[in-house]
Amino acid sequence: MQVVKYMFQPHGDERGQLVALEEYKDIPFEIKRVYYMYDTANGVHRGFHAHRSLEQILVCIHGSCKVLLDNGREKKVVPLEKPYEGLYISNNMWREMYDFSPDAVLLVFASQLYDESDYIRNYDEFLKFTEEEEQKNG
Ligand code: TYD
Repeated sequence: MQVVKYMFQPHGDERGQLVALEEYKDIPFEIKRVYYMYDTANGVHRGFHAHRSLEQILVCIHGSCKVLLDNGREKKVVPLEKPYEGLYISNNMWREMYDFSPDAVLLVFASQLYDESDYIRNYDEFLKFTEEEEQKNG
C-alpha cells in the first residue's frame, strides 16, 4: 500500500511560519468541508470507518497523532507530527486515529459535504465493499 503524504510549502520568515493550501493545487480535490478534532481524551481511538467516495487530507496542525490505514489487504501506521505535512486518504480506506497528544489539533479537508450514507462503519461490510470494487475495476 502506498502512503501518500503531501509536504506543504511553509512560507517562513523571521516572524514565523505560514502554510497556505489551495484546492486542486496543494489539496488534490475541491475542498467542500473542513473539520477538526481537538481536546481528544487520553487513550481515545476514533475513526473506525471507510468512505464509499470521500477523499480527505489530514493535517495534524498542532501536537501529534497516529493514523492506521487499512485497504483490506494491508495495514500501515502513519505518524502525523508536523503542521506542514498532509496525509491523503482515498475512498475505500479504513482508518483509525489514535495516540493523540493532549495538545493535538487534527485538521481534515474533505472532498464532500457530510453524508452519513457515504460511511462504511462495519469492518466486514468494508471488506465486502473493497472486494466488489476490485472486481468492478478488474
Ligand atoms: P464521528 O463520525 O463519530 O467522528 P470520528 O470518525 O472521528 O470518530 O463524528 C462525531 C460527530 O460529529 C458525529 O455526531 C457526527 C458529527 N459530524 C458532523 O456533523 N459533521 C462532520 O463533518 C463530521 C466529520 C462529523
